[in-house]
Amino acid sequence: MMRILHFYFSATGNTKKVAATIDQTLAGLGHKVESFIVGEKTEDLELLDYDMVFAGSGVYQWMPGKPMQALLGRLLKKYVDAGEIKPASPRRPGKKAVVYCTYGGVHTGINEAVPAVKYMAQLFDHLGFDILAEWYIPGAYVSEKLKGFSVGGRLGDIQGRPNAHDLQSLAESVKGILKV
Ligand SMILES: Cc1cc2nc3c(=O)[nH]c(=O)nc-3n(C[C@H](O)[C@H](O)[C@H](O)COP(=O)(O)O)c2cc1C
Repeated sequence: MMRILHFYFSATGNTKKVAATIDQTLAGLGHKVESFIVGEKTEDLELLDYDMVFAGSGVYQWMPGKPMQALLGRLLKKYVDAGEIKPASPRRPGKKAVVYCTYGGVHTGINEAVPAVKYMAQLFDHLGFDILAEWYIPGAYVSEKLKGFSVGGRLGDIQGRPNAHDLQSLAESVKGILKV
């Protein structure tokens, strides 16, 4: 059985819904997943202990949330210090990662989420994990101040997203990824 780790950051709850769907789908397929919200017991994550890692965040100023950036920074330092990040980043057979975000895209659409996902993926790629997938899931602007951004931007009307359809489609993607 694969060892699966999942860690994610969610400030307004959208990524948390996505994360719950990922965890439920994995559990439904009989996999055990160790799942953490960034900031809760994520100080000593040992990525190399797992066969597959899922990492996700909401997008804030086209980057992952600050706590996720800080965690990835600490992990990078740990693996650099331990000599685990080598020139040319040789592959580690059997090690796989999936990186995802929820995003609003009001100004430039998916382009303002791509840097966040690429940023998260680089730690895994540097460590030699294969990045199996990058998922971009629309997530409404929830706060009172910004909720007007959920309509009229480049993604159109994203109120209520991620919705049931998004989560159903995500569950199918999770099932697909486990066949790779
Ligand atoms: C302060 C703030 C900044 C945001 N910046 C971006 C951004 O740069 N690009 C983007 O696509 N979405 C942006 N969003 C939208 C969020 O990424 C989106 O609502 C996401 O689903 C939030 O995830 P969470 O609820 O898990 O924190 C921003 C939202 C807030 C509240």
